[in-house]
Amino acid sequence: MAHQNWLITDDGSHRPFGDADMVEPGRYYRLFRFLTELEDILDTFHDDTSRLEVITPLVRKLLVSSYWLQMEYSAPNPATGWSVNFLYREHEYPITVQMVSWLPGHHSTIHNHGTWGIVALVGGQERNRLWKRAPQPQQPDRLEQIDELILNPGDIVALTANAIHSVEPLGDEPTVSFNLYGVTDFSDRYEFDPKTHTAKLF
Ligand SMILES: [Fe+2]
Repeated sequence: MAHQNWLITDDGSHRPFGDADMVEPGRYYRLFRFLTELEDILDTFHDDTSRLEVITPLVRKLLVSSYWLQMEYSAPNPATGWSVNFLYREHEYPITVQMVSWLPGHHSTIHNHGTWGIVALVGGQERNRLWKRAPQPQQPDRLEQIDELILNPGDIVALTANAIHSVEPLGDEPTVSFNLYGVTDFSDRYEFDPKTHTAKLF
């Protein structure tokens, strides 16, 4: 199956995004070079969608070239259902790079990230439920599910800062994903309770 890039926006909609099979030939593309190019891109592009448009092909190039990254994850914690390994996090530089693994039978909360983000699935299969805000006078944090996307290894989703999703592994294998976000502190990240229609920072 052909790989796919998707852009998920604040209103819960998604669309194909860029050329998912494009890989530039050339020399080995190392994590430090990716991070250096990222720094230049963030100096040049200032809105989420432009940043995602330029960075998404580089994430694909990195994962294809630096295959070792795909092994840099831990088995999910059976109690919580997930694990996270940080590949890069530097004081006062707003980038987080991590590998996340989820155990089948568990699922994430419904959340935004409060920053642009790129998630590349490298193992397993994952359902992404996509939500949008549907505020009511008494329920300002009410959400409505808009759609869902099934990701397979090699698929990448690019999310704007207020895009809202929830994820769960499908099948028997844990999912493994490469995750890149434009902050280190996640100070503007909310999780949403679809029963009480409330949101809180997490
Ligand atoms: Fe997420």
